[in-house]
Amino acid sequence: MLLTKEAFGKDFIWGVSTAAYQIEGAHNLDGKGPSVWDTFVQKRNKIFRNHTGNIACDHYNRYIDDLHLMHSMNIRNYRFSVSWSRILPEGTGRINQSGIDFYNKLIDLSLELGITPWITLYHWDLPHSLEIKGGWTNRDVKDWFGDYVAICVKSFGDRVKNWMVLNEPTVFSAAGYFFGVHAPGRKSIEGFLAAAHHAALAQAHGARVIKALQPESNVGTTFSCSHVEPYTNREKDIKAAKKADLLLNRLFIEPLLGMGYPVNEIKTLRRIEKYIKQNDEQDLKFDMDFIGIQNYTREIIRYAMFVPFLQAKIVNAKDRKVEMTAMEWEVYPESIYHILKKFQAYENIPPLIITENGAAFSDTLQNNVVHDPKRLQYIQNILQQVLRAKQEGVNVNGYFVWTFLDNFEWAEGYHPRFGLVHVDFQTQQRTVKASGHWYADFIK
Ligand code: GAL
Repeated sequence: MLLTKEAFGKDFIWGVSTAAYQIEGAHNLDGKGPSVWDTFVQKRNKIFRNHTGNIACDHYNRYIDDLHLMHSMNIRNYRFSVSWSRILPEGTGRINQSGIDFYNKLIDLSLELGITPWITLYHWDLPHSLEIKGGWTNRDVKDWFGDYVAICVKSFGDRVKNWMVLNEPTVFSAAGYFFGVHAPGRKSIEGFLAAAHHAALAQAHGARVIKALQPESNVGTTFSCSHVEPYTNREKDIKAAKKADLLLNRLFIEPLLGMGYPVNEIKTLRRIEKYIKQNDEQDLKFDMDFIGIQNYTREIIRYAMFVPFLQAKIVNAKDRKVEMTAMEWEVYPESIYHILKKFQAYENIPPLIITENGAAFSDTLQNNVVHDPKRLQYIQNILQQVLRAKQEGVNVNGYFVWTFLDNFEWAEGYHPRFGLVHVDFQTQQRTVKASGHWYADFIK
């Protein structure tokens, strides 16, 4: 299959994605309140070399140059997130006008440059004041979130039409409340189940709030997903892989589609029912305009007797001795094909958009050039698989590269570089990588 932009059709959306905490910096400037990430990074040994997002790419101060650079790379769709605690420093109540002003300037300049904004309303940076009240484990978070969403739609909705409610609820509920490796760093099964249910409620509620205020909006939400395969054909491994698939790929899409939680295969998950109140089943359902698919790799799963709750574990790419990225994730482009087919198979699934995909490699800047053939190959191979799915009838309408700039990669700090643009974090100098030049040319 010849890889050309035209093969994807003229309405296919090409873009790049970022997230507020990973690029903005200015963590306490102009009235911004702390988020759970601002407090989490201050704890010792939570983040690679105790890096923080305090400055990150300093995008808050450099957005003008960054948007011009984006424009020069022919990028016409930009997915970014709004920092909740920049808009509402305490999470609820008092509005910080400077926060609204920043996003107004960002949106206005984007539009002036012909770049369409796609806003993620929540990319993991819950206001710290709300975490003190229980964060995602407190059912009130649904209303706190709804009020914040309404402020964003009222402030930006005259110019912004494309919204994503949540970024990867599986990741922020599991990594943040069960494994404790992301903010807020909590570790309990009950916390995870409560957070998961409230995130699922907020996902539909947020979308309803947007639609009520802006009926013509294009509303979606995003899911992390990985194609799952059993390690062997032994029945135990197959069963373990099914459980992992349920957690990684099905937990949030199925209630959204009105199918309820897929709790039957994992006994512990049934405890989520404790948090479900009257009418919740209906409230979890919402007809989105699109679903954001975020895929990076596949997972191989085997039975593991001693792993609590699941009796399943991931067989690392490293141990399998396969090609990996700097995240130690297997390079496996077919994963995105399988995921697209899997989501398409749901009845009443709306159109799909790949809202994140990309790869981290240890890039180096030499004579003002970043030669990153592995990333270039990765993106090309992924696009081949997307095209394959599309030609087999999958309704996939867009692709956003993760990510525009090298940035703060959560617990991994600045070590993995995912950008199409290299950032020197000492000088903040930007250099378009070879993959970035290729992408610019491809989407021209
Ligand atoms: C996603 C996340 C992004 C980015 C990416 C690469 O899960 O939404 O913020 O970090 O992974 O790891």
